[in-house]
Amino acid sequence: MRLGPFEISPATLLAPMAAISVPPFRSACLGQRCGLATTEMVAAKQLTVRRAWRRKRPFERAAGERVLHVQIFGNAPEILAEGARAAVDFGADAIDINLGCPARKVVGSGSGAALGRDPAAAARAVAAVVAAVRVPVTAKIRAGWDESSVNAVETARAVADAGAAWVTLHPRTRAQMFGGRADWSLLARVVEATPVPVIGNGDIRSHADAERMVRQTGCAGVMVGRATIGRPWLFRALADGRDEEPTAGERLEIFRAYVEAYVAWAGPDRGIRELRKHLLRLVHGVRGAAAFRSDAQRIATPADVALLLERARDTLEHARDTLAEP
Ligand SMILES: Cc1cc2nc3c(=O)[nH]c(=O)nc-3n(C[C@H](O)[C@H](O)[C@H](O)COP(=O)(O)O)c2cc1C
Repeated sequence: MRLGPFEISPATLLAPMAAISVPPFRSACLGQRCGLATTEMVAAKQLTVRRAWRRKRPFERAAGERVLHVQIFGNAPEILAEGARAAVDFGADAIDINLGCPARKVVGSGSGAALGRDPAAAARAVAAVVAAVRVPVTAKIRAGWDESSVNAVETARAVADAGAAWVTLHPRTRAQMFGGRADWSLLARVVEATPVPVIGNGDIRSHADAERMVRQTGCAGVMVGRATIGRPWLFRALADGRDEEPTAGERLEIFRAYVEAYVAWAGPDRGIRELRKHLLRLVHGVRGAAAFRSDAQRIATPADVALLLERARDTLEHARDTLAEP
């Protein structure tokens, strides 16, 4: 799959996830052969306040990240254009425009899913960004606002005509948030109607799911979010085309390196706090994981994490072959 000058292979993407798709996590996923890892969303408006970024960068390239695909959100074409220009100055290789975020704070200001509600407004936003930067621009949309206003076909076509290199669809409405099921039949209709590649997203938890999505919808690539939290090796399964959980030893090694990179990036206090949710996912669906879970809530230092992982070897052994489970 091409993204402007870049070849994206395999056509598997890590979803942009606020407070999750940060450099150490993107790096862990890319290390497991994820094709492209999108950053968490960044406010275009904040990017334009350049003096705020003299000491700290708004986003960073992850270790091993060949293509830095930065997602921005905003409520007006000029703001998104200016934010995209700033993002490119800060090192972005490609820009993704968030037209689907359902969070009240984001839609309340007219961004995310609120902008995606009106295909013409979404197209104006994409056109403004395409005109403002030389890097490829993509867009991520939802099914529509609610059940009675599903407009993904119109929105996908409008943003493709406005110059988006590809469109990612998460086929749930804003009203659904993350509940119910992603409507893959809508994805198939959008693929059929859109002149640029469409990336399918929503409810992929295994290679079997991804294969089924591609078969049922004809999407050009797949994007995975929640199922990768605590299990970046899902990308390896997608790349190899088979659902095989790495051994407990391998998973421990991947996780240890990940914990180290995360703590180095975020600092020990914040790093440990944020790693808890990843640790909990590590034993998701595993029988007898309750003790691990309660220990994971109490970790306070990197040494605690190392000890927890060492003690978790047995628990993780039981977690084999659970990749395809919800
Ligand atoms: C914790 C979390 C944070 C998210 N943050 C973003 C975001 O910043 N931008 C975005 O476009 N989507 C965001 N999403 C939505 C995901 O990118 C994705 O569309 C959704 O989770 C469906 O895919 P999945 O079923 O594979 O998780 C987020 C989802 C979660 C669970």
